Amino acid sequence: MMKLISPFRVVLALLLASQCVVSQLQVGFYANKCPLAEFIVKDEVKKAFFKDKGIAPGLVRVHFHDCFVRGCDGSVLIDSTPSNTAEKDSPPNNPSLRGFEVIDNAKARLEAACKGVVSCADILAFAARDSVEITGGFSYAVPAGRRDGRVSVASEALANLPPPSLNVDQLTQSFASKGFTQEEMVTLSGAHTIGRSHCTSFRNRLYSFNATMSQDPTLDPRYAATLKQQCPQNSNDPNLVVPMTLSPATTDVGYYLDILLNKGLFTSDQTLLTNSATANQVIQNARNPLLWKRNFAAAMVKMSKLNVLMGNAGEIRMNCRVIN
Ligand code: HEM
Ligand SMILES: *[C@@H]1O[C@H](CO)[C@@H](O)[C@H](O)[C@H]1NC(C)=O
Repeated sequence: MMKLISPFRVVLALLLASQCVVSQLQVGFYANKCPLAEFIVKDEVKKAFFKDKGIAPGLVRVHFHDCFVRGCDGSVLIDSTPSNTAEKDSPPNNPSLRGFEVIDNAKARLEAACKGVVSCADILAFAARDSVEITGGFSYAVPAGRRDGRVSVASEALANLPPPSLNVDQLTQSFASKGFTQEEMVTLSGAHTIGRSHCTSFRNRLYSFNATMSQDPTLDPRYAATLKQQCPQNSNDPNLVVPMTLSPATTDVGYYLDILLNKGLFTSDQTLLTNSATANQVIQNARNPLLWKRNFAAAMVKMSKLNVLMGNAGEIRMNCRVIN
């Protein structure tokens, strides 16, 4: 019996081993192929951050929006063409996404250093990690080897990205459809501790909540008054923005503390208090920053692996905005 089976086992083991080469992202993927890759990305992120602190939240969000639409394949970085409206020009992304020039600058240096080797999707995953590191003082290893996709369709961004109007059940569903638990959804939402929002993303909570109440009663009234000053009813300037939290350039548990004070900016933030499991997690994260940071790092790594292209799939884009 054993004698019959063992050759099978050898073949099976070899098959599995060869599969692994192309079927799993690897930490240190560029160590031999382009040793300075991660250093160059970090250098560009740092340079840009010191000019504009908004770059860090911008890049974290671009990575999230890349991964939830066709996987982490750099599809969000592709520019529209006369014959195609790309993801980046759909309402969840335009005009709010920012940080694209940082990816372009890193890509230009990487093409000069090691032509055709480092994917745009990997650059973005590294840049998001570096942004967390700069703003949060904690880091994580990013497994790499992603390839770049050749398709970017605006309607897919709208269909796959959760809007800020969602309630806790809808958020749970949206994240479950990408393989995340409800707990991971709450953990990842903590990214809203940094950055800004356009008034358009929450103004219904101030002026047109529902048929009987103009203002969302779950929003702290004093915070609502401040937001109304920053986002006046009579202004339809689409560029008006407000900070997410009191420390929008520091990745900490400020987001969870705010929610406990009824100062979550979006319906999708404040709704986490309406379910006992998610409310409990908000409390735990607010109390235990180290726990949240550890869970957040793990969830970011998981997100960075969503539906990636590997091996010979896709391409290594020469310019992150243009399909080769
Ligand atoms: C849970 C569902 C989520 C919803 C409904 C949501 C929605 C939004 C909205 C509406 C904005 C404001 C955009 C603007 O008007 O400028 C925003 C900003 C942001 N989001 Fe989310 N988001 C979610 C999850 C996430 C996740 C998972 C991450 C990353 C891990 C993330 C990272 C960010 C960051 C960093 C910003 C600030 C961007 C900047 O300053 O440029 N969000 N989000
Ligand atoms: C408006 O919202 C409040 C608070 O959530 C609720 O009590 C009320 O029934 C809502 N009114 C309508 C017409 O939906």
